Amino acid sequence: MQKVWESTELDYAFLFTLKKVNSLNTQGFQPFFNDLPIDPYIKGNYRFRRLSRFIVSGNKLIKLPHGYLFQGKDYNPLLGDIKREFAELDDALIELDIFKHLVLAFSDSCKLHPEAEIGVHQIRTTCSPTNLGNPAPEGIHQDGTDFIGIFSVDRNNIQGGETHLYAAKKEKPVFNKILHPGELVLVNDHEFFHFTTPIKPQTEGQGSRDVFVLSSPSLISD
Ligand SMILES: [Fe+2]
Repeated sequence: MQKVWESTELDYAFLFTLKKVNSLNTQGFQPFFNDLPIDPYIKGNYRFRRLSRFIVSGNKLIKLPHGYLFQGKDYNPLLGDIKREFAELDDALIELDIFKHLVLAFSDSCKLHPEAEIGVHQIRTTCSPTNLGNPAPEGIHQDGTDFIGIFSVDRNNIQGGETHLYAAKKEKPVFNKILHPGELVLVNDHEFFHFTTPIKPQTEGQGSRDVFVLSSPSLISD
C-alpha cells in the first residue's frame, strides 16, 4: 500500500500528532480557495468558508446531504446554540484525488469507525494592514467533537497564524507551531484545547491563510 503520510512527531497514544503529507501537492487545492463565500456569522468580513460532510466507504468518499453546523454554547460561547449554514464544497474539489487522500488519511490516522461522519471545513482567513485576521475568534477552545485535523493549504503574505494546543486553558501550550502547506496536525479534542493566533500581513497589501479543518463527528445535522 502506498505510504501517504510520514509522521514527524508522534505523541504518546493518540493525543496529538503532526504529520507531513508526502504525496499531496497543495497547489491543486489553491484555486478552490478563491471563491469562498463570506462567513456571515462573525463580524469583520475577513473569514470565508464552505462546509461538507462525508463518510468513508472502503476506498471511497461518500458525500452526505447538506445540513447545519451546531455546537453547544459550552463549547462555543461566541456561536454556540446557533444553527449555522454554509455553502457546500465545490464538486470539482471533492473529485480531486488529493482531496480524497486527505480525508482518507484523516480517517485512517484517527482510526475512525467506518460509519463515522467527517465534517470538512474549507476556510480562508484574510488580513490587511488595517485589519488583523482572527482564525479562532472564539479564543482557546474545544470543538465538542472527538478528533480534529487542521491541514495547511497555503500561507500568503502573512505573519502569525500559529497553531497552539493546550492541555488546560490557563497553562502554556503543549504544541506551538506555524503549520506550513502540506502539514496536518491531528488532535484528540477530548484531551486538548486549540487556538490559532491572529494573522497580519508580512508586507503591504492583503494576506491570507487557507486551511481545511476536518472533524469527526461532523457536528452537522439535518
Ligand atoms: Fe475549533
